[in-house]
Amino acid sequence: MPLTRVLVVDPERPDPAAIAEAAAVIRAGGLVAFPTETVYGLGADATNPEAVARIFEAKGRPATNPLIVHIARKEDAPACVAAWPDSAEALASRFWPGPLTLVLPRSGLIPDVVTAGQGTVGVRVPRPGVARWLILEAGRPIAAPSANRSTGISPTEAWHALKDLEGRVDLILDGGRTSVGIESTVLDLSNEVPTILRPGAVTQAQVSEALGEPVEHLAGVLELGQAARGPGQMAIHYAPRTPAFRLDWGSPIPSPDLVRTSVTIAFGEDPDDGDRWLPDPESAARDLYATLHELDALGLDFLLLIMPPDEPRWRAIRDRVRRATRPWPDG
Ligand code: TXA
Ligand code: MG
Repeated sequence: MPLTRVLVVDPERPDPAAIAEAAAVIRAGGLVAFPTETVYGLGADATNPEAVARIFEAKGRPATNPLIVHIARKEDAPACVAAWPDSAEALASRFWPGPLTLVLPRSGLIPDVVTAGQGTVGVRVPRPGVARWLILEAGRPIAAPSANRSTGISPTEAWHALKDLEGRVDLILDGGRTSVGIESTVLDLSNEVPTILRPGAVTQAQVSEALGEPVEHLAGVLELGQAARGPGQMAIHYAPRTPAFRLDWGSPIPSPDLVRTSVTIAFGEDPDDGDRWLPDPESAARDLYATLHELDALGLDFLLLIMPPDEPRWRAIRDRVRRATRPWPDG
């Protein structure tokens, strides 16, 4: 696959010819990177095992890490799953289309390669826009992880995906910067207690309120060097190439190092400490990955991220910062 085509599209009203071209690539078993409201996805026909295998190859992704299946409407979910419980209906009615992935026992429609051989499948309906037009035009569910190489930062702009996947993907639909900016909340409904496997823009409190029952968070990400217990559990999973460190919120900032070049990113109300400042969880989600991609291209000696405060509204951002960094040696 020598060439990657890039088509620029309007994010809300993409040119039907571009969508038709991308849908033809999907139907023919090829790979298309496309914007969702969260991050860019690397999509293939979810019902075609050979096409899905190409996703793993292009990303360098371990075959043990399952993919999310993207559908155009809630009514298409029951075909992907073995059973559609009331809890799923309640959550889908409330949060779809949107950044919430529901993990449920899978149906026979979904091949092994998508679920990494597990008995469950993750499904979600992305917000209206390029992703939904593409799924509708392709006429089938689209399996898509984030459109980055396996250990890199998720893409929120087309060039992030191109940088990682040029020559590895047939087509990239460039719909500009994504609006949410971090990956969807992944909620496992296949066990007794609904469990958030990956925090995202849809919060524990929102899910719990919609269900009228308590919802758990899977215990925190693993530290470096520990083996992953399950999907999404790798500690360093979204790291930039530049060494990136984190300091706990409230720790003293190390004094400037006059020899090495670095940039400090801070979160929260107080702009004092950062060269870059992401003031609230929504703008931090929108800008975090773009900031990391941009700074990673500068050839700095290191990046320093000050952890956001330990508050529920910062949970998803704290999760992503933790995964992208190691603790500051003296912090
Ligand atoms: O926002 C998103 O979720 C983006 C866009 C493209 O939709 N996709 C995305 O995919 O972030 P990916 O593959 O980078 O992350 C999917 C996460 C992984 O941590 C994976 O392990 C988990 O969801 N996952 C998928 N299917 C699962 C399943 N059946 N059981 C448990 N975890 C699952
Ligand atoms: Mg990913």
